[in-house]
Amino acid sequence: MNKALRQAIIAGNWKMNKTRPEAKALIEELKPMVKDAACGVVICVPYTNLETALELTKGTNIKVGAENCHWAKSGAFTGEISADMLAEMGVEYVIIGHSERRQYFGETDQTVNQRVRAALDAGLKVILCVGELLEQRETGITEEIVGMQTKAALLGVSAEELGRIVIAYEPVWAIGTGKTATAEQANEVNHYIRTVVAKLYGQAAADGMTIQYGGSMNAKNADELLAQPDVDGGLIGGASLKAPDFTTIVNAASK
Ligand code: PGA
Repeated sequence: MNKALRQAIIAGNWKMNKTRPEAKALIEELKPMVKDAACGVVICVPYTNLETALELTKGTNIKVGAENCHWAKSGAFTGEISADMLAEMGVEYVIIGHSERRQYFGETDQTVNQRVRAALDAGLKVILCVGELLEQRETGITEEIVGMQTKAALLGVSAEELGRIVIAYEPVWAIGTGKTATAEQANEVNHYIRTVVAKLYGQAAADGMTIQYGGSMNAKNADELLAQPDVDGGLIGGASLKAPDFTTIVNAASK
């Protein structure tokens, strides 16, 4: 990646894992291991672990994120959490548009955009996930899909607000499957996303944007993926649940 232009960020996506005592143990183990990281370090944790994570990471280099938020400020949305509620707690990041939300919870490009807007309005930073299904890759429409998801999600986002958005390219077929995109495939799509952002916001904004790769990134393949010029970090699922593995990835991004 071009470190002169942008910061690498390694973000853990814990998904629906870890009770509070388990979260506490993982964070305590992680803190000393990543304290000298030269990249951004974020842990996105279940809502029930946010308070624990915020408490335990105070004064450290670890930032805390949530895994989703609703688009409304408040109201009759049983079971949902608003961006304002997260911001008030001191949460800094929120993942929006993860493929598991799109696949299992009816998330659409439109609701992704609404959630991005709500998160930005609340002052949060967004990790925006885009990525194609296996059939879409095999049909040769990866760029169309990822381009459309990116453009739709960024509707109504100003150039200034773009500075609070990180994009995570996550091919759906590579998530939790152990099948990683090759470093070339990851770089190719990340580069394409940067060209889409450049068309919307100009080259300088695109050059400054952190674009991560996610999908079975682990301690073994992180070096090669993160060595790619357009791969500015990673969104890490499974491997973020083990402190030594997550640390190896953080160290790879710190080189
Ligand atoms: P994985 O998940 O690393 O377990 O493939 C990545 C993600 O879904 O963000």
